[in-house]
Amino acid sequence: MAAGKPQLVVLISGSGSNLQAFIDAIGDGRLHAEIALVISNRADAYGLQRAAAAGIATATIAHSDYPSREAFDAELIATIDRHRPDAVILAGFMRILTEGFVNHYLGRLLNIHPSLLPLYPGLHTHQRALDNGDCEAGSTVHFVTAQLDGGPAIVQARVAVGADDADSLAAKVLVEEHRIYPLAAAWLLSGRLAMRGDAALLDGRALAAGGVQLLAGQALPA
Ligand code: GAR
Repeated sequence: MAAGKPQLVVLISGSGSNLQAFIDAIGDGRLHAEIALVISNRADAYGLQRAAAAGIATATIAHSDYPSREAFDAELIATIDRHRPDAVILAGFMRILTEGFVNHYLGRLLNIHPSLLPLYPGLHTHQRALDNGDCEAGSTVHFVTAQLDGGPAIVQARVAVGADDADSLAAKVLVEEHRIYPLAAAWLLSGRLAMRGDAALLDGRALAAGGVQLLAGQALPA
């Protein structure tokens, strides 16, 4: 790791509330890092305004400007690597990444997915949980591998499903996302967390499937 603060590049597509959680965690000392760049594939992503308000450099790389996933991902890699990041954070980045991209950052590429993986990879996770009558929902931070939403889980936050619709459930889950994602990044950047093969290791021990388990509102582990 280079001298100075660990460097992050954050990829977004939308609101960027998880990006904001990183900005806030860095601001209050929970996360020792610096966000070198925020990249969006959509020029109208509100998260770009959040980044600018925090004085963070931004770039828009519109996937629609590229003839293939490979060409888009090559431009992403070229842009990201100019900042020599210690980790790349997918924060509501709604593009499927190529195997080449994923392997380039293997072990330092994190994603947050709004379900209790391996349940509900893909889209519309909260509606699917409601349709199935699930009594709990949640979110998973995981290492990204070439398998969509399938890399080793690091931490999961679980919330109870009440008289929710998909929007209210998403809002409840987001509160927890904002707690667990900076925590997982802090573990990675401090060297406590690593990916070895199919496992996530925290403090040298392989985490169980699902990773560290947290209930809504529960105090975060150290
Ligand atoms: C979050 O709920 C995140 O888990 C989800 O998008 C939302 C982004 O919110 N990610 C995915 O669905 C990835 N497949 P945000 O832009 O406010 O951080």
